[in-house]
Amino acid sequence: MTKVVILGTGNVARHLFNALREPDHLNVIQVVGRNKKALSYFNRWSDTTSDFNLICEADIYIIAIADDAIHSIFDTIAIKNKFVVHTSGSVAIDALPRIHRRGVFYPLQTFSENREINFKNMPICIEAENKEDLKILHQLAASISDMVFEVSSEQRKSLHLAAVFVNNFTNHLYAIGNKICLENKIPFAILEPLIQETSRKIKTISPYEAQTGPAQRFDKGTIEKHITLLKNKKHRDIYSLLSQSIQEIYTKEREKS
Ligand SMILES: NC(=O)c1ccc[n+]([C@@H]2O[C@H](COP(=O)([O-])OP(=O)(O)OC[C@H]3O[C@@H](n4cnc5c(N)ncnc54)[C@H](OP(=O)(O)O)[C@@H]3O)[C@@H](O)[C@H]2O)c1
Repeated sequence: MTKVVILGTGNVARHLFNALREPDHLNVIQVVGRNKKALSYFNRWSDTTSDFNLICEADIYIIAIADDAIHSIFDTIAIKNKFVVHTSGSVAIDALPRIHRRGVFYPLQTFSENREINFKNMPICIEAENKEDLKILHQLAASISDMVFEVSSEQRKSLHLAAVFVNNFTNHLYAIGNKICLENKIPFAILEPLIQETSRKIKTISPYEAQTGPAQRFDKGTIEKHITLLKNKKHRDIYSLLSQSIQEIYTKEREKS
């Protein structure tokens, strides 16, 4: 039985907790966090504490707290020479103190409250400082996911950057689209088939091949009309910048033909 302690009570802590308590050979023995209200969610299934001096003995400690707090949390927790991993895409393994066996357990997915997530097809990016610990992390990850990848801190930094573009920025563009729809009394759902096909087609063709629209066609008149329609200056800037970025990519192709 592998004993796990989770530090943190946010989105990742909750989703990971629910996934890790399923396999029989894993036991999430404790959840530790400073937020007593958030801790109450875990009470039904596990021991919880907001006292960082009362952390249980475990095989793995998963630090699922805000990126900026990962390093400083070790000033307050009373554990020494343990196997500790964090769940961040952007924090290097060496942000964890040297006195511990260090690792990373980064689930490459977007977690929100009240959203069920299937871990089986979620990439889990693992990193450890030695082969034995890597094996332990591999077993832990494989018990909840079929997609386990060894990724170095250096690679993870770039992977996280790419993830921000394809997930966070894309979602922000959905938010702008949603606002435009709302302002014009159009249901946002009308765009759903387009959103679905945009994400589906990159499974078979590259994003380069998949690009369509006024910028890719160099349709200057339409681009100008769209910019005039936008009331928000930031949105006009985003539209112009993205259009320029698209056109830079397709300019060479136009010059060739
Ligand atoms: N959300 C995602 O989609 C996602 C995906 C992959 C990886 N991650 C990574 O997973 C980690 C947790 O993210 P999350 O989305 O779960 O964040 P979250 O929902 O905002 O939760 C953050 C947690 O960190 C705790 N915390 C913040 N500062 C602290 C401090 N100084 N001392 C002790 N606890 C502190 C918070 O406690 P309080 O409630 O008391 O503030 C809360 O429990 C981050 O490293 C993030 O990069 C997130």
